[in-house]
Formats: sequence, C-alpha cells, structure tokens
Amino acid sequence: MLVLGIETSCDETAAAVVDGEGNVRAQAVLSQIEDHKPYGGIVPEIAARAHLSHLDRLIAKAMSDAKVRFEDLSAVAATAGPGLIGGVIVGVMTAKAISMVRGIPFIAVNHLEGHALTARFTDGVQFPYLLLLVSGGHCQILVVEGVGRFRRLGTTMDDAAGEAFDKVAKLIGLGYPGGPAIERAARDGDPARFTFPRPLKGRPGCDFSFSGLKTAVRLAAEALPAISEKDAADLAAGFQTALVESTADRVARAIAVFRADYPTGDTLVASGGVAANTALREALTTVSRKNGLRFVAPPVALCTDNAVMIAWAGVERLKLGWVDGLDIKPRPRWPLDPGAAPVRGAGVKA
Ligand code: KG4
Ligand code: ZN
Repeated sequence: MLVLGIETSCDETAAAVVDGEGNVRAQAVLSQIEDHKPYGGIVPEIAARAHLSHLDRLIAKAMSDAKVRFEDLSAVAATAGPGLIGGVIVGVMTAKAISMVRGIPFIAVNHLEGHALTARFTDGVQFPYLLLLVSGGHCQILVVEGVGRFRRLGTTMDDAAGEAFDKVAKLIGLGYPGGPAIERAARDGDPARFTFPRPLKGRPGCDFSFSGLKTAVRLAAEALPAISEKDAADLAAGFQTALVESTADRVARAIAVFRADYPTGDTLVASGGVAANTALREALTTVSRKNGLRFVAPPVALCTDNAVMIAWAGVERLKLGWVDGLDIKPRPRWPLDPGAAPVRGAGVKA
C-alpha cells in the first residue's frame, strides 16, 4: 500500500508518500513563515496563493524522492478541513485531479484526525487513547476510540493554546511564530516575578480558557515603562508557567474521565504545534505518570503540520475500505466529534 498525502490547511505546504506499515518513503514541507512574518500572523489570502504556487513542485519532489510513480499509488489523501478555506481548496482540488486522471481513490482527511492518528505509526499506540490536541487553531482533549471515532471531553472557550502563545509574543515584542520565541525567552526568565492566573484550575470539566491569562500579561506589560529584554523574559516565563499549569490541570481531569470510562486505555498522547513545548511535555509526563498512564508525544516535526500525518490517516482509512467521492467539499470547520456539547463562551475552534 502506498498513499500520497497532501497538506495545505494552514501555513505549511506539504506532500508525503507513506506505505501501509507507516514507513515514510519521502516528504517535502515548505513553511510560509517568512511570507507571513511582516504581518505578525497568517494572512489567509497569502497562504492560499503560496500553496497554489508550490504544491505541484512539492508533490513532484516527494514522488521522485520516494521513487514512486503515480500509477504505483493506492490512493491520494488530502486535508479537506478544518482550516483556511483557500488553502484547503488548493489541496483538495489537486488531490481530486490526481485521483481522476490516474484512476486512484481519493480520501478526504480531517486535519485533526491526521494529528490524532500520528502516534499510531510513530509509537504503535492502540485504541482507545486520550489525546491532547494543542495547536495554533485547535485546543481540545479527546478520546480516540478508533479511526473516525472520537469523543471530545474538553475544548477551548476562547483562544487555542498556540494562539495565546502567538498573541502574547506579539504584545511583548517577541515576534512570530510566538510559541518557539516565548519558549526561548522563558529560559532566561523568572516565572515568579509576575503573578498570572491559572485559568479554570480546580474548576469542574475539562474545557480550556486562555484569553484572561493573555489579558493579564497585557496589563502587566502595559504597567512597565518600556519592555526590556529581561522584562520580556520574565513575562514569557510567567505566561508559559501559567498556561502549562492550567493545561495540566485540565488534562488531569480528562484523565480521570478516561480511566473511569475506558479501563483498557493506558496512554496520553499530545499532538499539534504546542506539543513541541518542553515545559508542557514535562508537565504532561508528570501528570500521566501520577495517574498511571504512559505519555507519548510524536517527534516535533510530526507534531507540527505535515503531510506524513495526512498520508498515514489515508492509510488507516484505506485499510478499512473508506474512500471518498469526488463530490466531497472542502470544509473550513469540521469537528471530530459532532455530537459534543457546545461550550459556553463562544470562540469554539472546531
Ligand atoms: O500544529 P501547528 O504547526 O499548526 C496549526 O495551528 O495547525 O501549530 C502551530 C502553533 C503556533 O501557534 C505556534 O506558536 C505553536 O504551535 N508552537 C509552540 C511551539 N512551537 C510551535 N507553542 C509553544 N511552544 C513551542 N515550542
Ligand atoms: Zn495542525
């Protein structure tokens, strides 16, 4: 089995070829960070145009590096949502064209399912498992019961965790993307100089909220005459510590639900760009160990957006015989658990 995966839902244009055993035959990723940097965030129109300019070349490179011809492929899988719709359209239309011209099946992959299933081929994780999905656009905790079967235990009431990193970095002058910049600055910072809230800590449920924390950082920054390098480091450290503590608290609550309802489950997986954060990984390792779970976080390059995860989700679906018609439409929103109760506070991301 050989599946070509295509990812264009955000600011990475990517193509990859993965086989039925989860071996990555080749991958090509092009980050658009430099295109968006002058604007301090992702500009959807610029992203869509960049995907259009580069996708064909990246697919050709992945195919030639893998020494695979189109007629060797078992299927072509593309992210069909959720994401920035202009980019999603570029990937889906390209995949449909390959499918039609070469007569191979098309598989529409939910980007979040791509993140969710990554730990299956990197670490052989078995269903069911608990998944913390934390990226720039998403912040949820789910039980992964099977391919296409998810139960959402919590989601954000306002900002996603990565969005909070990005916004805080911008307001203390650390640039974009914010997560790595905050993590770097925080290394030299004093996390105790500023006292920031730990949103929802100790409160019932497993939902997240980060906008109050972001406001607290803004007020602390505004109270300073000017933000020196030391101030930025202390603000970054204080913010990161608060976000990690709040997240770990929410995860501990989700673990309690998971242990009670899924006695065979033994693993917590973290995925999405924010799962690259070392402080968060350490806190999740501790909370997992304390509650009798194993903690798994895929390598950073497979936690952030990539096409390997989309190709692999295609492999998992193809093994079940699940392929899609060419009438499938790209979707800006596509919740993994459509039955989940809506959260109060609006701003739900998926
Ligand atoms: O999964 P991803 O590549 O794209 C999507 O949003 O789908 O995640 C990108 C997000 C950005 O918000 C970025 O600031 C954050 O992940 N991020 C981090 C770190 N590396 C990336 N956040 C905290 N610490 C990091 N080391
Ligand atoms: Zn993502």
